[in-house]
Amino acid sequence: MKALVLSGGSGTRLRPFSYSMPKQLIPVANKPVLEHVLENIRDLGITDIGVIVGDRGEQIAEVIGDGARLGARITYIAQEEPLGLAHCVALARPFLGDDDFVMYLGDNILPDGVGDVAGRFTAHRPDAQVIVHKVPDPRAFGVAELDTGGRVVRLVEKPQDPQSDLALIGVYFFTPAIHEAVAAIEPSPRGELEITDAIQWLVTQGREVRASEYSGYWKDTGRAEDVLECNRRILAGLKPGIAGHVDAHSTLVGTVVLEAGARVVRSAIEGPVIIGAGSVVEDSRIGPGTSVGRDCVLRRSRVADSIILDRAEITGIPSLEGSLIGRGAQVGACTLEPSHHRLVVGDDTRIEVAA
Ligand code: G1P
Repeated sequence: MKALVLSGGSGTRLRPFSYSMPKQLIPVANKPVLEHVLENIRDLGITDIGVIVGDRGEQIAEVIGDGARLGARITYIAQEEPLGLAHCVALARPFLGDDDFVMYLGDNILPDGVGDVAGRFTAHRPDAQVIVHKVPDPRAFGVAELDTGGRVVRLVEKPQDPQSDLALIGVYFFTPAIHEAVAAIEPSPRGELEITDAIQWLVTQGREVRASEYSGYWKDTGRAEDVLECNRRILAGLKPGIAGHVDAHSTLVGTVVLEAGARVVRSAIEGPVIIGAGSVVEDSRIGPGTSVGRDCVLRRSRVADSIILDRAEITGIPSLEGSLIGRGAQVGACTLEPSHHRLVVGDDTRIEVAA
């Protein structure tokens, strides 16, 4: 079995980050979302992985490499325009050949893995196997209607009036039957070849499409809030490890990972927290759910439930929560007039200040 990971797309809901980096490289617990995805695939025993990339392909290849680090072999496949998930399958046909494959959206995180579903697919080998999860508002997803035996009877992409609360998770198991379906469908009203339509085509043809309900944690990391929630969740499962230096005036409580060369000085850290290599935390308090990247500086600040990307500096901020701070960003107290806010921010940035 092979794997096809979809890592193109423009990530408009994750601006301004997606202006300078593909959304799949946003770090969760100091590891790019895409790396979490690839590890999950490797854990299924799949080593032959195709990764579809858009115009940010070079950045992705630079960070992820050829897969050797993960014990896998990665083939990058370029998609010039984001013409839909089913279009990606068509593009990858030479790579996929006639093998079964798992298709995995590069922004979906499932920390509990999909080993059970993979086992069921391999054992029964239906034409396609999807994974569904109950959500309160399914309108932002593909929605599946099932019969009592777990067979899919209908799939609709982002319906206005959903007929079930079962959203399609972005992990699909396919036999080569999907290629026939992809060749048969037409672009949707938004101009994309939808994988949901291709799977629906199989259903209409009377082919066997099965669904497994997933009870583990799943997140499509499409928005900043999703990334932060995922970060909290993954940090909670980390094993503690202190490779950096903690001075005698600091306290660490709960699960804390301090990477090599990181320094904690006169500070209190309450885990789960990860602090990246070369970062300095001085006279500060870091609260649960915080990931600090590499070579950051945090001084006289209090930060909780946040992701701070590499090289960012936070100085003199009494309370920063639920925040996503980009690479090399500087966040500090206004030195000219303490009650003022002074902002130099990029396009489509979102700021909420204490009123
Ligand atoms: C895609 C699929 C949708 C699925 C979702 C899961 O939507 O089209 O069916 O439910 O991924 O993450 P997108 O996130 O590309 O809008």
